[in-house]
Amino acid sequence: MSAFTVQDTVGEVVARHPVLSRLFETERIDYCCGGKKTLGEVCQAKGLDPQAFLATLEQVTSAHRSESDTDPSSMSLTELADHIQATHHAYLRDALPRLDMLTERVASVHGSDDPRLRDVRETLLTLADELTSHMMKEEQVLFPMIRQLEVSDRLPSFHCGSIANPIRQMEAEHQDAGGALNAMRTLTDDYTPPTYACNTYRAMLDALAHLERDMHLHVHKEDSILYPRALQRETELAEGAHAR
Ligand SMILES: [Fe+2]
Ligand SMILES: [Fe+2]
Repeated sequence: MSAFTVQDTVGEVVARHPVLSRLFETERIDYCCGGKKTLGEVCQAKGLDPQAFLATLEQVTSAHRSESDTDPSSMSLTELADHIQATHHAYLRDALPRLDMLTERVASVHGSDDPRLRDVRETLLTLADELTSHMMKEEQVLFPMIRQLEVSDRLPSFHCGSIANPIRQMEAEHQDAGGALNAMRTLTDDYTPPTYACNTYRAMLDALAHLERDMHLHVHKEDSILYPRALQRETELAEGAHAR
C-alpha cells in the first residue's frame, strides 16, 4: 500500500520526505506557500492521474530511503530554529550581496538589449531588503519566542500576545518573497540564458535558480514544520494552564 494518500498536503509529504522537494520543483508544484494544498487538489489542477502520481512519490522516496537527508521533522524546535539560522539565513547573507553585484553588472551591460534585466535587478534589490529585515525579525523576535516556548512549562506572556501574530506576519512576507522569485523566473524565461549570454550572465541565472531552490526549502521548513509546531506547543501550554 502507498505511504501517500490524495488527502495528504504537499507541505506534510515534503516534511516527511525532504527528497520530494526536487520532484515538486521539476513539476512546478509549490510546496512552501502552497503547501496546504492536498495532493488530490494538485493533481486536479495539473491534470495528473492521482494514482500514477502517488506511485511516483513512492518510487522516489523508496529510492532515497537510505539517503541521509537532514530530517527537520525529527529536530526539536530549538534545533530547527538553530539549523535554519545556520544554513538558510547564512546562505542568504552570502548570496544576496553576490546577486546584487551580478544583477548590477548584467543589467548595465545587457539592459539595453533586454530591458527585463533592469526589472530583475530592481526586483532583486527589493527582495534583498525585505529578506534582510525578515531574517532580523525571525532571529531577534520570533525564534527566541519559539525557543522560550520549548523550555517553558507554563505559557510565557509575550509582548505581541499569541505567537500566532508574528507567525502570520512572517507567512505574509514569505508570500511576498515567493512573488518576487516567481517574477524573476518569468523575467529570465525560467533562468534560460540567451545565446549571447556571457559568463557573468550565466552565473547570475545560476545564482537566481539556487536562490529560488534554497528559499523554497527554507520557507517550507518554517511554514510547514517550525511554525505549526510552535503554535501547537503554545496551545498545549495554554491548555495546561487551564487544567491547573
Ligand atoms: Fe527564515
Ligand atoms: Fe522566514
